[in-house]
Amino acid sequence: MSNRANSRTAVDRARPIDHQRAHEFQAYGHMTRRPIALAEDAARQSVENLNQLLADAMTLRDLYKKHHWQVAGPTFHQLHLLFDKHYEEQNELVDSIAERIQTLGGVCVAMAADVAEASIIPRPPKGREEAPVQISRLLHAHEIVLEEVRSMARQAAAAGDDGTNDLLASDVIRGNERQVWFLSEHVVDVPLVRAD
Ligand SMILES: [Fe+2]
Repeated sequence: MSNRANSRTAVDRARPIDHQRAHEFQAYGHMTRRPIALAEDAARQSVENLNQLLADAMTLRDLYKKHHWQVAGPTFHQLHLLFDKHYEEQNELVDSIAERIQTLGGVCVAMAADVAEASIIPRPPKGREEAPVQISRLLHAHEIVLEEVRSMARQAAAAGDDGTNDLLASDVIRGNERQVWFLSEHVVDVPLVRAD
């Protein structure tokens, strides 16, 4: 403890030390080495890919919440619940991707403004859209994610980053494919009451 801290009275020591600032100790885009027996180039490539995927997964996740809140029509309740379920599942994927980036020694993208800058998913309008349009928008976002994640999984495997490959193939690809199934069945035009 410093002399200054030692000299503080009991009352002073109870006071929170707020408004603290310091330089970042790891800048975004910079890697740190971890003893995980993985080549630095492989880790760097995975971190770059995972940050792109993270920005897109966060955008897709938030698109689900927007649609959960703004959905309308006779399937309101069903879609309201489904959109929220998929939101929660995407949120888990987002957490796994971000923690993988940190595990590899990188720095994950985190805040909405930075995510918006990086994401390649088209920005939706602020207003409400009809349910079939919401679903089409979500399906398109899933396809963007699936296209990039397949190529990222192959790159990770080729570079020897099996941990990233496993996360992408087992969780991200299969999770997104399953959500696409659930969504796309809602825009199959089958009769509701009387068969054709
Ligand atoms: Fe809700």
